[in-house]
Amino acid sequence: MARIAYVNGRYCDLRNASVNIEDRGYQFSDGVYEVCEIRDGSLVDLPRHMARLKRSLGEIRIAMPMSEGALAAVMHEVVRRNRVHYGLIYLQITRGVAHRDHAFPSPSVKPSLTITAKSLNFEKNQAMAVKGIAVVTLPENRWPRVDIKSVSLLPNVLAKQQAKEQGAYEAWFVGSDGCVTEGSSSNAWIVTKSGTVVTRSAESGILPGITRAVLMEVLAALQIRLEERPFTPAEAHEAAEAFVTASTQIVMPVVKIDGKPVGTGAPGPIALKLRDHFHGFSTFS
Ligand code: PDD
Repeated sequence: MARIAYVNGRYCDLRNASVNIEDRGYQFSDGVYEVCEIRDGSLVDLPRHMARLKRSLGEIRIAMPMSEGALAAVMHEVVRRNRVHYGLIYLQITRGVAHRDHAFPSPSVKPSLTITAKSLNFEKNQAMAVKGIAVVTLPENRWPRVDIKSVSLLPNVLAKQQAKEQGAYEAWFVGSDGCVTEGSSSNAWIVTKSGTVVTRSAESGILPGITRAVLMEVLAALQIRLEERPFTPAEAHEAAEAFVTASTQIVMPVVKIDGKPVGTGAPGPIALKLRDHFHGFSTFS
């Protein structure tokens, strides 16, 4: 079945989908994106993703290309046309097309909007969670505005590749304070030996993950203690459990950090419990 993309007002065959080479997303990474999980053909936690999208756009002064309602309708249509039951939707908005000049185009141009959806293998994702993943730590080298979900992801790309080349699945950035900020495409968490779940506060150094926010509600409902504070790789090595969160991975147990096992070296009971309960706290639309 051909995959369908939405490109600036048109639904087209993904193989022919293209943008202008003077799109500022292409030339300057001048744009933002969102990734939502698709479950049973529905978009998971769409209102929260919309809110973060609007915030990211506002921070870099790009206008919403259409109303929130219209955007949601297009997203649903992309899911429907691609017949995705389980997978993800990717949405990107850039400042638009203009002759190359670093400053914003004046007068302003129409933002570009592209949306794609793809099916993922549910069983494969589950199998990964049963086994757990390995992470490696790397020095933080991103700009300070990682709270903006910008398409400028070169440090993240290089970090993920380095992880892969070292036989790991994810890289954790370690800031100048010696503490873990987050993963190249996920938020980082540990569980202490006394059962407290720890993750860095969203005030600095991380993208405020939607999965992270929903998980905090799961923790409260399950009466699991949460501390929002930084932690070092050394504390993570000594922790009972570790895991990462992201829209398509939900709660993914981490069993190895820099080659050393975490806890028992197998996915921890708290991470697996949180993974099981997660979608009871999500919205579906
Ligand atoms: N990444 N931190 C970073 C740097 C991320 O790229 C992501 C998600 C997260 C988790 O955010 P959320 O829970 O809202 O998915 C944290 C997406 C999935 C990606 O780039 O593909």
